[in-house]
Amino acid sequence: MFKTLKRAVLLGGAAAGGAAVFYLTADTDTQMAIASATGPLLRMLDPELSHVIAIQATARGLMPRDPRPDPPSLATKVFGLSFPNPIGLAAGFDKNAEAVAGLMGLGFGFVEVGSITPRPQPGNPSPRVFRIPELKATINRYGFNNLGADAAQDHLAAFEKAAAADPSIKRGPLGVNLGKNKSSKDATQDYCIGLTRLGQHADYIVINVSSPNTPGLRALQGRKELEALVKQVKGTRDRMLWGPSGPPPLLIKVAPDLSEPDKRDIATVALGCGVDGLVVSNTTIQRPGEVAKYPAATEAGGLSGAPLFPMSTQVLSDLYRLTGGRLPIVGVGGVGSGEDAYKKIRAGASLVQLYTAFAYEGPALIPAIKRDLAACLARDGFKSVEEAVGADHPDIARPKGQAGGGRGAAGGRKSWWW
Ligand SMILES: Cc1cc2nc3c(=O)[nH]c(=O)nc-3n(C[C@H](O)[C@H](O)[C@H](O)COP(=O)(O)O)c2cc1C
Repeated sequence: MFKTLKRAVLLGGAAAGGAAVFYLTADTDTQMAIASATGPLLRMLDPELSHVIAIQATARGLMPRDPRPDPPSLATKVFGLSFPNPIGLAAGFDKNAEAVAGLMGLGFGFVEVGSITPRPQPGNPSPRVFRIPELKATINRYGFNNLGADAAQDHLAAFEKAAAADPSIKRGPLGVNLGKNKSSKDATQDYCIGLTRLGQHADYIVINVSSPNTPGLRALQGRKELEALVKQVKGTRDRMLWGPSGPPPLLIKVAPDLSEPDKRDIATVALGCGVDGLVVSNTTIQRPGEVAKYPAATEAGGLSGAPLFPMSTQVLSDLYRLTGGRLPIVGVGGVGSGEDAYKKIRAGASLVQLYTAFAYEGPALIPAIKRDLAACLARDGFKSVEEAVGADHPDIARPKGQAGGGRGAAGGRKSWWW
């Protein structure tokens, strides 16, 4: 009995060792495929638990690193910042900025962390995330569960230290997405606190006024409310002393559930108040098409993934027209392929983000999207992403070298604070 057990342990150890050697010596595509193949296993677990495991594995360096340079046609400059490729990770995956180095290493052109609120908060009771795998969709009502601004600041400082010591830690721009605490009476103050605590670590800042899971948050998208909010946050930013590369650009993240007057108001405020860009869009409270047939559709929360693509791309296209192509837009919602990313860019996105498709498909999706996007650009005769931005709106003449405001031509990170 003891002998059999000993033999089983030895055999198991040898198999695990062999598998580890195979993984470590495999090429990047194979490593990405192996990491992605854990998806079906993770999907057997509760969605929140598999999210936690994915974050912790990434934070501990257990994900593959993609050292390959991106196709030159994908390099782009937006808000004066240089992006190796326009494919970014959307907010909500790394809420506490715990896994930035690992996520950058997967080949994202940029990573947005958050939403981060000034004080830690637990979010809504579990269960609060629901999969609809047949449609590659998810419904979540997390409600800004996060460790708060102090913890995020510690994590971002640790990331910067690690990146300074190890040049192999790939650095694309880092966005910090700010939210408000559920119990807070003064939303503006919360965003200003987030900015003062975390602005030093951010290449750009996102004011998230579009999560459906914090009561009253979406009302901040109204014209008067948004104008007052943007003026205050921008005023706070501009009163702060920044390094040579200037203050971080300020973006507003909006919902896909907007009426025509809502969209006009957002465009007017964004242009009138000097917002640097828009993130379009967050999750939807609607249950379009097929979604309504699935039991999870009755759960409260925001829908993301493939079914969100048509409506979020329509709102992106509308806001591009309403702003006359003068504001850089980050297109997000239902992107799951290079062709989807290309459609967002043609509709008016200067940059693209994804979350749900990445959660379903795993790391191998990122190089596949980049490769297919480069092929779409080449197929239609575009030499760069910038050339294709807004191509579906030939009547709108986009300002050349659109850079938005913010960090100025030098881009990069500030060197000091106060
Ligand atoms: C589980 C989950 C949590 C999210 N949390 C946030 C968040 O904290 N802040 C935010 O701005 N967006 C959040 N989002 C929205 C995403 O950033 C993105 O806008 C949305 O999911 C649409 O993109 P996708 O279809 O590629 O997922 C979350 C999305 C999901 C699925």
